[in-house]
Amino acid sequence: MKITNLGTSTQASFYVATALYKQMLHKKESKLGLATGGTMLDMYESLVTLLDKNQLDVSQVETFNLDEYIGLTAEHPASYHQYMNHILFDQYEGFDPLKCHLPNGAAEDPECEAARYESLLDERGPVDIQILGIGQNGHIGFNEPGTPFDSVTHCVDLTESTIEANSRYFDDKADVPKQAISMGLRSIMKAKRIILLAFGEQKKEAITQLATGNITPDVPATILHLHPNVEVYVDDAAMPDLS
Ligand code: PGA
Repeated sequence: MKITNLGTSTQASFYVATALYKQMLHKKESKLGLATGGTMLDMYESLVTLLDKNQLDVSQVETFNLDEYIGLTAEHPASYHQYMNHILFDQYEGFDPLKCHLPNGAAEDPECEAARYESLLDERGPVDIQILGIGQNGHIGFNEPGTPFDSVTHCVDLTESTIEANSRYFDDKADVPKQAISMGLRSIMKAKRIILLAFGEQKKEAITQLATGNITPDVPATILHLHPNVEVYVDDAAMPDLS
């Protein structure tokens, strides 16, 4: 696994947006594994610019998001459905809503919904590129420390640190959902190519853990060492001191 410092988050975001753009350019029916979170905002903005300038046909592209909060409807402003609409699907015309998948956080039976989502991934996958952020505690998706490496899409109890980190998207910390449906670590590892992005001082410790090469469920992202095709892009602030 190569960790590459691309200097600024703007440069890294543009680089990764270009990778997604090229993937869709070369394969009309590309399958993309998408992530949400603050880290991804510039990347999607750059992607929309590239799509716009080149008027790429994305009608055959199929997308699969990593996760969704349990208890939020797709219309809730803090749901990941709304995040994706706002940042990508409403920004560039042509994505087919029927091909843009996220777990349904408002499903009556979340366990059943998790199983449905995993079956969908199995039927329609594997994804060509999976984009990932990383939590300060090393989580990927909502796979918190201790998540088994063989986990598939499942319901997750969010850790206090994740609830705290995500409270910035809610009016009140008490409104942050305590659970989510997340692709599991095994689901993520099925992707053909994985690109992880991490920016800022607050991600440096997690990237340092990743850089040690140790593989442990205590730092879920370290499972990526077992995947043959992973790229990690960081900015100056998130780059570990390797000396
Ligand atoms: P962030 O979240 O991009 O908002 O920091 C990343 C993550 O928790 O995976």
